[in-house]
Amino acid sequence: MNFSLTEEHLMIRDAARDFAQTELLPGVIERDNTQTFPDSLVRKMGELGFLGVMVDPKYGGSGMDAISYAIIMEELSKIDASASVIVSVNNSLVCYGLEAYGNEEQKQKYLTKLASGQSVGAFCLSEPEAGSDATSQRTTAIDKGDHYLINGTKNWITSGGRADVYIVIAQTDKHKGSHGINAFILEKGMPGFDIGPKEDKLGIRGSDTHTLQFNDVKVPKENRIGANGSGFRFAMKTLSGGRIGIAAQALGIAAGAYELALKYSKERKAFGTEICNHQAIAFKLADMHTEIEAARMLVMRAAWDKDQGYNYDMSSAMAKLYASKVAMEHTVEAVQIHGGNGFVKEYHVERLMRDAKITQIYEGTSEIQKIVISRGIIKE
Ligand code: CAA
Repeated sequence: MNFSLTEEHLMIRDAARDFAQTELLPGVIERDNTQTFPDSLVRKMGELGFLGVMVDPKYGGSGMDAISYAIIMEELSKIDASASVIVSVNNSLVCYGLEAYGNEEQKQKYLTKLASGQSVGAFCLSEPEAGSDATSQRTTAIDKGDHYLINGTKNWITSGGRADVYIVIAQTDKHKGSHGINAFILEKGMPGFDIGPKEDKLGIRGSDTHTLQFNDVKVPKENRIGANGSGFRFAMKTLSGGRIGIAAQALGIAAGAYELALKYSKERKAFGTEICNHQAIAFKLADMHTEIEAARMLVMRAAWDKDQGYNYDMSSAMAKLYASKVAMEHTVEAVQIHGGNGFVKEYHVERLMRDAKITQIYEGTSEIQKIVISRGIIKE
């Protein structure tokens, strides 16, 4: 068993860390305040290969492994979880889905642009009445011979207003339950495809979240991904990989808050000494350090499972469940260590605390991860 990162992984970490410090950090508070999507930064991340990390270079990707992807996600998320969720959805839910299940024509037409950052992707599964219960899709895709007619509403769609390409999950045959669901590629601007107002969120405010409406959207048959009825399994498999990305995001949020708290505690003095010398603070730092390291092990394990070609449904759910809990708990502690300054935007930890919450909700709530894990245990 080897716990060391390779030279290549260390170089990738340094590149992502450098980008986060020099490019993401300067405007992160402003983007959070004004809910501004980081357009130019997304372009730069595309140039660096962060938008198609695991995609084969023949489709415009970087051809790296899932461990590299987790490292990049952790480093970006230490500074800006709004930017990193755009990266995560594009990589795990859109590029992976197209590369693993799309046909050659779909890969040439869509994946090459998405992986190189020329287009941005969105993944549309959640609905007003089908969040956790993903089999209960109300959006319909009726087979009309050479095309499908799509009708319905999708909620909380990351990059909903800014994306160019949307993977939409819809019900084709209600009587077949999860086997009657399909995944489709839609493009912005298709007649009948409307983008609702932007959500005003607690956290990840620099990302762009919208409700989408489909009114008789005519989607050519060649835009269906995979065999008829394979859309639910497609969604579940892409979400398993997505959970590695979000687990790494949660890890980065926790680690970013911890690093700020550690630094602050070594500078701030109270009762005649730096506050890190008080056991009340030192013990918090010890817990944070230990649990963040444990979360990192779970994230890396899930990424390694994916790289080895093993099943990663359970390991990705475990990584996401635990890393998101650590992110929530330790960002609260980081604010506490900062005292009054922790409540002020310029110290960054209050934003990380707000951003942490969504990691326990999107790509499956913590309760959903427990369903996946417990079903996996019982099946073993
Ligand atoms: N891989 C392959 N197949 C799978 C699978 C997987 N990981 N998980 C389930 N399936 C298959 C099952 O084997 C079953 O097939 P059969 O009928 O042939 O046996 C079929 O799919 C139905 O599975 P279940 O009976 O297990 O389905 P369920 O209704 O009990 O739901 C669930 C399972 C795990 C709760 C699922 O609904 C789920 O993951 N829900 C959460 C959805 C979610 O994560 N939403 C997030 C939205 S995306 C997002 O947040 C993106 C963003 O913007 C950041």
